[in-house]
Amino acid sequence: MVYTRVSELDFELDQLPHMPPASRLVMTTPDHFSIDYVINPHMAGNIGSVDKNRARQQWDDLKEAFARCGIPVDVVEGMPGQPDMVFCANQTLPFLRTDGSKGIILSKMHAAQRSGEVKHFEAWFADRGWDVFDKIYHGDIDFEGMGDALWHRGKRLLWGGHGFRTDISVYDTISQGLDTPVIALQLDDPEFYHLDTCLCILNEDTALIYPPAYTKEGLALIRRFFPRVIEAPETEARELFACNAHSPDGKHVVIQRGCTKTNTALRDHGFEVIEVDTDEYLKSGGSVFCMKLMT
Ligand code: ARG
Repeated sequence: MVYTRVSELDFELDQLPHMPPASRLVMTTPDHFSIDYVINPHMAGNIGSVDKNRARQQWDDLKEAFARCGIPVDVVEGMPGQPDMVFCANQTLPFLRTDGSKGIILSKMHAAQRSGEVKHFEAWFADRGWDVFDKIYHGDIDFEGMGDALWHRGKRLLWGGHGFRTDISVYDTISQGLDTPVIALQLDDPEFYHLDTCLCILNEDTALIYPPAYTKEGLALIRRFFPRVIEAPETEARELFACNAHSPDGKHVVIQRGCTKTNTALRDHGFEVIEVDTDEYLKSGGSVFCMKLMT
């Protein structure tokens, strides 16, 4: 079932099955990262502007920050001609079945320029014995994986962004195929074009959000399920991608450097902040969360 407003809800969070949180991460090497086209507003004016050495250093440092949280990182090789492949949250949605087996749903990238990325992740997961579950979803509707579809930490509940890169109709199929409720959140501001740019699920109870990116109904749904909501101020959300942070363990939060107000709020809620530089990637409209996939 796909829910779009609070009045439709017919379950409580504590009635949903527990799901162990992801225990590993995947990152894609940045050797072929560049800005060759404009498919989101952040990329405008930035074609050809990536400093490759800085980008490599920032990627290495991010990987190291995840390792400091005790989370192993698997590496997928980036491919020539796929300059956005480093944003490896977008090509698949990994999932866990109730019997413990693992699979992925393949994305159908909204931008033609990114469509060639998906097969590399399909092959990588298939080689490692993951079920590539194209029976759930045949790939003719726009869907950008874990850029828009985020698992509630520890629960069989999927938060599904739509409006720019993902078509809401895909969530009916995903909800049925994975036997999970989906809460669909309409995105309204083109600078917050993926759900992971305005919602960061920090633990079972806590979310970091940028409220103006949502409709009234969407905000009410978020507040209904998260007793603790941290709000990022506009400049930090828009320019520093504060909500594109990631907490690999529900305790640490890895976040772009300089999100001062957000970091204070995070610390007040008991999180340990790890600041990293991702400015080469911000030029392309991505930061910490989009540069890794949770598996
Ligand atoms: N340049 C990439 C794009 O527009 C950035 C993707 C960032 N990923 C994310 N999950 N927000 O597709």
